[in-house]
Amino acid sequence: MTDLVGLARTDELKISEGSPLGEFQALHHEHDYTLSPEFGAIPAGLRGTLYRNGAGRWESGGSPVGHLFDGDGMVCMFVFDGQTVRFRNRYVRTRNYVAGNRSHGPAGRGFGTMRGDGGIRANAFRRPVADFANTGVFLHAGKLLALFEIAKPHSLDPDTLCTNGIYDYAGRLRGLGAFSAHPKVDRRTGELFNFGFTMWPRPGYNVYRVDPAGKLRTLTRLPVFPPLLNHDFALTDRFLVFVIDPIVISPTGILPVLAGLKPMHDAIRFQAPLGTEIVLVPRDGGPIRRIRTDALLHFHVANAYDDGSDTVIEIVRYTDDFDSVWAAFRGAFKQLRLNPVFGGPLTRLRITKTGRVVREDLNDRRLEFPQIDSRFCGRRHRYSYATGIAEVTRLVLHRRPSDACGVTGAHSAASTVGAVVNPAGITTFDHRTGSQSTYAVPGYGSVCEPTFVPRTPDAPEGDGWLITVEYLRAENRSRLVVLDAKSPERGPCYIGGFRHPLPIGLHGMFTPRVASPH
Ligand SMILES: [Fe+2]
Repeated sequence: MTDLVGLARTDELKISEGSPLGEFQALHHEHDYTLSPEFGAIPAGLRGTLYRNGAGRWESGGSPVGHLFDGDGMVCMFVFDGQTVRFRNRYVRTRNYVAGNRSHGPAGRGFGTMRGDGGIRANAFRRPVADFANTGVFLHAGKLLALFEIAKPHSLDPDTLCTNGIYDYAGRLRGLGAFSAHPKVDRRTGELFNFGFTMWPRPGYNVYRVDPAGKLRTLTRLPVFPPLLNHDFALTDRFLVFVIDPIVISPTGILPVLAGLKPMHDAIRFQAPLGTEIVLVPRDGGPIRRIRTDALLHFHVANAYDDGSDTVIEIVRYTDDFDSVWAAFRGAFKQLRLNPVFGGPLTRLRITKTGRVVREDLNDRRLEFPQIDSRFCGRRHRYSYATGIAEVTRLVLHRRPSDACGVTGAHSAASTVGAVVNPAGITTFDHRTGSQSTYAVPGYGSVCEPTFVPRTPDAPEGDGWLITVEYLRAENRSRLVVLDAKSPERGPCYIGGFRHPLPIGLHGMFTPRVASPH
């Protein structure tokens, strides 16, 4: 419901369509300090390191970049040592980051960004999308990798976050060397699974398995034609599960991109008649199953599991049309939209033995960044966690701060303020009971992906905490928030304050290893 009480508390806040979003402020400095305790206490037993990645500056060579995906990757580290939370951020020293510090205009091309002055000479036959290393970060077999789905990973020092260099698993990554940003680990075997987009010799995905010692081998090659973009996948005991929406790299649209006339964004089309293809790749060899269903739009997967002869996968299903979503990623992505197009309901897809796909929406909220207790990756999970996207569906004319309540429809010397119909938040879904519990970010704030941390290594599923970072719009600052994972509606059990707004970022992971940021 409309949070008019919350708005009354944030009278200085003036937001309207097109207002700049503070969670997209650039953070140029690299920090290393202890968060200021603001509320509660760090829970006993919460020890380890949270790593997160995401764009930290949406500019290069002194010029803004033109797409949500085009910022240089900044990895953040939150070290829980039992007493304090130490924060450190470091930019990944990609070629693009380094070149952008001395170039005039963007150093590399991006999804919505042209290089240099934007002219054909600066862009023709250049790599269509530079390596931004900005999407995920993952620690496996002692390697901390910054991930970007159309480039090789960058290896980072897990204690200092210094960039060691490009990492290609001893030359075993194929083609472009792409290694996607959402690897999955089977906690029982210690194996990591991932895929990488390739165009050579034919479009498709290389499917990889990395053993616990860090040795990579190619499981199979999954041809996909026409070339389709895919961001995430899931793992079960038997399969790697791909839900491949018809997001096509247009063969005709790519020509002006290669010629340096347009950015990659313009070559991407949604071809609904192709439908969505669900692909089951056996983990241990055997024939690949491919099942077509009606066209879906999604980016992220919560989990998948085998259920008898069925396979079940849970995604966040976007409810807006692709063109609206894709357009929102470009240009004005740092500005407020009163009607956001990001996210959608948690949706369960059941693939039967006969190839039927049964779809069930599990809620009616606009969610993104689905997560689970990662110890249950590939097994039937009881709890899902997700970020709720703030929805502002109408404007309220709000009186000046001296007036306590604000009156809808008042026109005298009023500020235009958005009415938060659904505030941003973190939601826990209990699939067994069907219940939900939500922590709502104060005012018209926003919040990033939650990361689940178990109370102990062998605690029951869901017994632990959710760690996230929220941005308080009225105060223009960020806070680390720790929630009880089973009841986030009870509010934070610990809040730690940053000295600056923190860019909202994308994905992260927690390890019980306590980093030593010397
Ligand atoms: Fe992602």
